[in-house]
Formats: sequence, C-alpha cells, structure tokens
Amino acid sequence: MNIIFLGPPGAGKGTQAQRVCEELNIPQISTGDILRRAIKEETPVGLKAKAFVESGALVPDEILVEIIKDRLAQDDCSKGYILDGFPRTVPQAEALEKIAKIDVVVELAVDDEALIRRLSGRRVCLKCGATYHVSTLGDRTTCEKCGETLIQRKDDNPETVKNRLDVYHSQTAPLIAFYEGKGLLKTFDGMQDIDAVYASIMGTLRALA
Ligand code: AP5
Ligand code: MG
Repeated sequence: MNIIFLGPPGAGKGTQAQRVCEELNIPQISTGDILRRAIKEETPVGLKAKAFVESGALVPDEILVEIIKDRLAQDDCSKGYILDGFPRTVPQAEALEKIAKIDVVVELAVDDEALIRRLSGRRVCLKCGATYHVSTLGDRTTCEKCGETLIQRKDDNPETVKNRLDVYHSQTAPLIAFYEGKGLLKTFDGMQDIDAVYASIMGTLRALA
C-alpha cells in the first residue's frame, strides 16, 4: 500500500509512520529526515536546503520532487511505503501523481496549542529517526533503539515553530481538500494518545488492505 501521512508539525506523523512501517514492513520516507541528514553531511542538497529548514520555510518544490523520484525508484518501495512529510504543496502533489499511485492519505488533526507543547519538548535521534518527548524520557539522554545521543531539533524553537505552523496552514493545509476531492482522505483525531491514534490508523489500513 502506498500511503501519505499528512498533518501539521508535531501532529505525530513521524511517531505513527515509524510504528506503522514496522508493522507493515514497508519503508518510512521522511523528507524532513532526508533533508536533515543531507544538511549534517553537507551534501549539495543539504547546502541548498539548510537555510529553509532552519527557518521553518519549505524547501523549493523542484528539490523535493527530485528527492522523492530517486527514493521511490529504489527496490524497497516496490511493496509499498509511507510518505511522511511529502507532499507539502499542491505542485508537489501534482508531481507525485505522475510518478506514483497513492492508495490512502492519513491526515492527523491536532490543535495548534497541543502542537506547540509537543514540539517544545521533543527530542530526536538523528541516526535512526526515533522520536521522544521529555515528559516520558525521564533522565534518559540516548536513543533506546540505537544508543545515539538525543538532540533537540534546531527548528523546534518557539519562533521557528510559529513560522512552521503558519507555513502549514497557508501552503500544506490545501492538500486536505485536494485529497478529499480524490476520495483518498482519512482523517484521524491526533489529540488522542499515541497508542489510540495507532490503533485507529491500523484499523483503517487493515480494512483497506
Ligand atoms: P519535517 O521533519 O517533516 O517536520 P514537520 O512536518 O514540521 O513535522 P514534525 O517532524 O515536526 O512533526 P511530526 O508530525 O513528525 O511529529 P512527531 O511524530 O515528531 O520537516 C522539517 C522541515 O523540512 C520543514 O520545515 C521544511 O523546511 C523541510 N521539508 C520537509 N519536507 C518538505 C517538503 N515536502 N517540501 C518542502 N520542504 C520540506 O511528534 C512530535 C512530538 O509529539 C514528539 O515529541 C512526540 O513524542 C509527541 N507526540 C506524537 N504523537 C503524540 C500524541 N498522540 N500525544 C502526545 N504526544 C505525541
Ligand atoms: Mg516528523
């Protein structure tokens, strides 16, 4: 199954996509993780993307479309995948239609206030992509999956979070109507706890399989 996870920053796309991908044994394609890795490794894409990502703006569509074209052409995508963070604009969604057949769009709906709380306490592992929140980490400072030291993302400061939310509402939220119009949209209450959101998503995906 080819799945898109759509939702504002902090909605839980990465948290849920990682669990669903493990369960379905398909790759999680997080464009945010790909860009952060490229920035860390100072690749040509990373150098172009850095200022956009760190200010909370969107990286230009043509860069993202190239990244996704290359990634979807890899062998591990043949049995399905989750796109986590792509598409984020209508032109990206239109470009995707030319290279992939999407089966379902999972939208996670969460209030802005909760998003700000979640992002301000988030800690991430840049090596394996695992995501945590300080409220459940205790005094742990390393990733329980791979042992890497956890960090706070540079774009999780209050000013950049506000910018990311504005960008989501103006540039990405129009995709909700775009995919609703195509009969692909399934909306989930992302305000529930992580296990409850996961159970709802898996229930829907199993019914579609
Ligand atoms: P990206 O990395 O995709 O960031 P984002 O969309 O802003 O989303 P986040 O990763 O911040 O949130 P999430 O929904 O994954 O939430 P998470 O599971 O971590 O993109 C970063 C940047 O890259 C963009 O700003 C842009 O510059 C660039 N970019 C990426 N893709 C692009 C594209 N297609 N086009 C152009 N530019 C692009 O959860 C958040 C926190 O909440 C965690 O602490 C978690 O533990 C907690 N949490 C999760 N679920 C729950 C729950 N149910 N209850 C309570 N807490 C929860
Ligand atoms: Mg994410």
